[in-house]
Amino acid sequence: MAPTTVDVFEKTRSHERLEQLRAAREADLLPYFRRLESPAAPVVEMEGAERVMLGSNNYLGLTGDPRVMAGARDALERYGTGLTGSRLLNGTIDLHLDLEREIAEWMGTEDAIVFTTGHQANVGTLGTILGPGDTVIADSADHASILDGCLLSRAKLRPFKHNRLDRLEKMLERSAEDGGGVLVVVDGVFSMEGDVAPLPRIVELTKGHGARLMVDEAHAAGVLGPRGAGASELFGVEADVDLRMGTFSKSLASCGGFIAGSHEVIDFLRISSRAFLFTASNVPAAVGAALAALRIVRSDEGPELFARVLSAAAYLKRGLADLGFNVVEDASGVTTPVVPVVVGDDWKAVLLWRALYDAGVYVNVAIHPAVPPGGALLRTSVMATHDEATLDRALEIFKRVKSTFETEHGRLP
Ligand SMILES: Cc1ncc(COP(=O)(O)O)c(C=O)c1O
Repeated sequence: MAPTTVDVFEKTRSHERLEQLRAAREADLLPYFRRLESPAAPVVEMEGAERVMLGSNNYLGLTGDPRVMAGARDALERYGTGLTGSRLLNGTIDLHLDLEREIAEWMGTEDAIVFTTGHQANVGTLGTILGPGDTVIADSADHASILDGCLLSRAKLRPFKHNRLDRLEKMLERSAEDGGGVLVVVDGVFSMEGDVAPLPRIVELTKGHGARLMVDEAHAAGVLGPRGAGASELFGVEADVDLRMGTFSKSLASCGGFIAGSHEVIDFLRISSRAFLFTASNVPAAVGAALAALRIVRSDEGPELFARVLSAAAYLKRGLADLGFNVVEDASGVTTPVVPVVVGDDWKAVLLWRALYDAGVYVNVAIHPAVPPGGALLRTSVMATHDEATLDRALEIFKRVKSTFETEHGRLP
């Protein structure tokens, strides 16, 4: 038999981003994989310089909180560095069980399950609860892990344009003909745009068509609603949301993910979700930290922290808009910790990122496929621990950089 003439690695030498990547690396313009040399505080050390951190998801600023660090340390001392196996066999400790129980209480659901990452929570839930013959309807701006779970499930995927509920309705109507179960899945707060899903109307449409609803609360849990239980709580629709996903990698200052819902669904995931069963459990320190952070969120201190992060976001948003930046406005008027600045062109976004970085502010750059083509943006985000003086320092830098940037590269949108 003749050997194959196609090298499976060929794509690594000829993919569409290769030239862009090479040029960005040569000019030291790559905004990714930058080295952090200190904790994710409001001001950080990065690559030898101090920079205002506007590119972290440490929304409540708890990663350096002594109680959260003690939670991690105690777990490390008690259980060691790793659990070396899956939750099923040898990776479940009492901290997992406490965490699952307390998450369910927090979310007001019958049960909850903890995964090693948020990505696995989405993939392991969607890939399990959906199957060939079912239909999944997803917002086009949903997180990549949602799309991955949908693709893994081999259910029929019916995407709708971001927050266009007329399109969602159409998809629900079409799904009735598909013949299987129907699940709608949306982000509560969209990770790049920072806007919210209009959940009351989504609930109405979903229920009206007999479908189930899952909300990814990754950026909303620990931030929105009186208990910080997310967008579902903020909009008063918790009882109508069938599954709520969250992660420990943002407000909860650790790493891991969860799904909260009815006991029957969660228990099914416990014995069927491959991303839960066939991977090692979170390290004890991650579970201990998440549990300590959750206890702070659920204490009297929680609402104070939610208010602080949201007021910092409103302050930054107003400041950037006053400077003439094109800040994404959410039609709902809901403030979230994510404040995106629209730039449009990929290279322009990268050049602006570099100018800000050199001047002492770190932000995230989102280009296609994280956002639609031509929709490049600088994603800024704040923490409850950002005070006005630090935000003013960042705004002063934005002001200076904007003026020199526009002289060199033309007006920003
Ligand atoms: C909306 C959303 N869902 C899920 C995830 C995945 O969570 P994790 O980072 O914990 O894997 C993220 C984080 O990047 C996210 O932004």
